Amino acid sequence: MLRLAVMVSGGGTNLQAILDAIDSGKITNAKVVKVISNSKKAYALERAAKAGIPAICITRADHPEKEDFNQTLLRELQESGADLVVLAGCLVVIPQCVVDAYPNRIINIHPALIPSFCGTGYYGLGVHEAVLARGVKVTGATVHFVDGGTDTGPIILQKAVEVHQGDTPKELQLRVMQEAEWVILPKAIDLIANGKVSVEDGHVNIAE
Ligand code: GAR
Repeated sequence: MLRLAVMVSGGGTNLQAILDAIDSGKITNAKVVKVISNSKKAYALERAAKAGIPAICITRADHPEKEDFNQTLLRELQESGADLVVLAGCLVVIPQCVVDAYPNRIINIHPALIPSFCGTGYYGLGVHEAVLARGVKVTGATVHFVDGGTDTGPIILQKAVEVHQGDTPKELQLRVMQEAEWVILPKAIDLIANGKVSVEDGHVNIAE
């Protein structure tokens, strides 16, 4: 049974998609053992409470020293016994000490087709604003392993989503979530939990 620690910052719809996929059997061999938020206001914390999952908040305000924040996060992850760390709408830059402790064992959902609209400064609604400003006709979402860079790790799954003429950033964000994020994040977890994902030379192979 793969033990998941899910890191969140906001609404937690991706966390909900994971919990629902476990309940419905779309994800097998995995369970969420802890939810970690960097914001006390995150609605994701209520979703965790409703599902009876232990949740904690680690904020920069409570840990003004960066190294203290980093080490607290690392300790909480280790104490949870997590095998896989899932960044599900987590807006914290993962410290190098955590990346080093979990090589190819941290995954992230990004709301665009990497390598487009990714990297420093591209997160949340801003990604969709940038997509609309550029006028691309197709966007999507990407699940990837986390390495020392921002959105640079090996890509596990991607799914394309059409941009519609006249979309607002919020309309596009919702379509990308519904058609891509809530589909490929649970799918990637299920593949990993069932031993189907390997990484070779920075590329992901998925067993049939
Ligand atoms: C999601 O769209 C996720 O892809 C994005 O934040 C949103 C969180 O929504 N993540 C990033 O931008 C990370 N670079 P949620 O809290 O409802 O899951």
